[in-house]
Amino acid sequence: MTSIRKQKIKGKTYYSLIERIKKGGKWVYKTIESYGTNEPSNNNIKIIKGFAEKELKDIPDKSVNLIILDPPYGINYDTNFRKEKTETIGAISLDNEKIFETFPDVIRECFRILKDKSALYCFARWDMTERFSSILNKYFKIKNNLIWVKNNWSMGDLNGSYAGQYENILFCVKGKLKLNKGRSADVLKFDRVAGKSLLHSHQKPLKLLEFLIKKSSKSGDMVLDCYAGSGSTLLASKKLHRKCIGIELDERYIKIIKERLKIK
Ligand SMILES: C[S@@+](CC[C@H](N)C(=O)[O-])C[C@H]1O[C@@H](n2cnc3c(N)ncnc32)[C@H](O)[C@@H]1O
Repeated sequence: MTSIRKQKIKGKTYYSLIERIKKGGKWVYKTIESYGTNEPSNNNIKIIKGFAEKELKDIPDKSVNLIILDPPYGINYDTNFRKEKTETIGAISLDNEKIFETFPDVIRECFRILKDKSALYCFARWDMTERFSSILNKYFKIKNNLIWVKNNWSMGDLNGSYAGQYENILFCVKGKLKLNKGRSADVLKFDRVAGKSLLHSHQKPLKLLEFLIKKSSKSGDMVLDCYAGSGSTLLASKKLHRKCIGIELDERYIKIIKERLKIK
């Protein structure tokens, strides 16, 4: 559970984001982020049901500080084990070649709505990075191909290939941008979401998203995820007191997002 701490020091009020954690059997408060004397704004979350390529057109120019994209990878697979658990989690929508028809429009719009000196992160599997980067390259400068190392093995050809333990994240910028809290390694180690807790077959871990959000935005900034899935980016943004917009076309996931974010 996170909360905002207000501290008065020499007549000035300082704000920080703190989390209550258990350490050595005791509850203690850990500072996650310091905001200095800037009071964090109230959270503001907008969830849009629709197609990214259409809905992005209504977002004003240069109004977003950070974009995190986790597009369908064009591989049309689903984790069968989830289907056994609930019927709400099936194959994800448009997880096929169609993504490459609309992705250029989505990226053009993302570039338009992103502020200068801002970042866009795009998840992609190793065999899809080239296709995604050839589209991203037209507008953004791709600065890194980050490697997210997961703690366990992904699905796939069980005997005929090596077990996949990583995913790629293309780190792109619009203009010159300084990452917060100095330089970090391009290999990011975060546990993936355990099968029994999965709400979406491609759900990304909150800790990983929180890391990316903290590196490239500040409290009160606007974060956008236009392939929102189960709303992980929105939840991470909310926890870090960012404003956020999520676009998702599948009604099943809109319901899950609202439940996760406790929104009616
Ligand atoms: C890879 S998943 C995102 C998972 C998400 N990062 C999470 O942690 O739950 C991609 C999502 O994009 C949605 N989607 C596919 N095409 C879309 C489009 N054109 N516009 C909006 N959403 C789309 C799918 O329904 C799917 O839920």
